[in-house]
Amino acid sequence: MKLAVIVDSKTGNTRQAADWIVQGMNQVEGMEAKAFTIPEVDEDFVKEARGIVIGSPSYAAQMTPDMHAWIMSAAGKLDFAGKLGGALATEQFTHGGGEAVIQSILIMEMFNGMLCYSGGKAWGMPVIHLGPVGVNDNVEKHNGMEHYKDNFIVFGERFAKKAAGIFR
Ligand SMILES: Cc1cc2nc3c(=O)[nH]c(=O)nc-3n(C[C@H](O)[C@H](O)[C@H](O)COP(=O)(O)O)c2cc1C
Repeated sequence: MKLAVIVDSKTGNTRQAADWIVQGMNQVEGMEAKAFTIPEVDEDFVKEARGIVIGSPSYAAQMTPDMHAWIMSAAGKLDFAGKLGGALATEQFTHGGGEAVIQSILIMEMFNGMLCYSGGKAWGMPVIHLGPVGVNDNVEKHNGMEHYKDNFIVFGERFAKKAAGIFR
């Protein structure tokens, strides 16, 4: 089963998070997961994918304009409706708007008829409420993407297990 993680990423943090999610997805038997930045998207692969996780850096506590525009243009032609959907964000500050970014991505996914999933608290620790957020290490000394690696991997694994259960 194909799964896609699609992100906007200008300086690599969100791409790194996407690669970790893909790592977790591919731990689940039968999964073929791939990560793409917007310019790299393989449209045939995404059309066939049963699930898509979309990610963006926080720009002024919102998804990037490029990601917003991409979702608007791609959702119809890439058959988003009926696919499992998830969301991730990266940010520079602990309170930098990552959760708001995730909410707005999930809203656009639901608008397009996707089935949204985060795992929530159902799997226990680590509890991931709406989707994983990574805080990069540009400013705050106690943060850094590596601290969030396991959360992204486990999110990918949970997402893939749910996709396997729904679409088997
Ligand atoms: C125009 C712009 C606006 C940003 N706004 C925020 C913000 O509101 N909150 C925050 O925590 N980080 C903000 N950042 C930092 C990015 O969200 C952060 O560095 C992110 O990890 C970058 O992702 P990337 O490396 O995948 O491009 C902003 C960065 C840019 C360039």
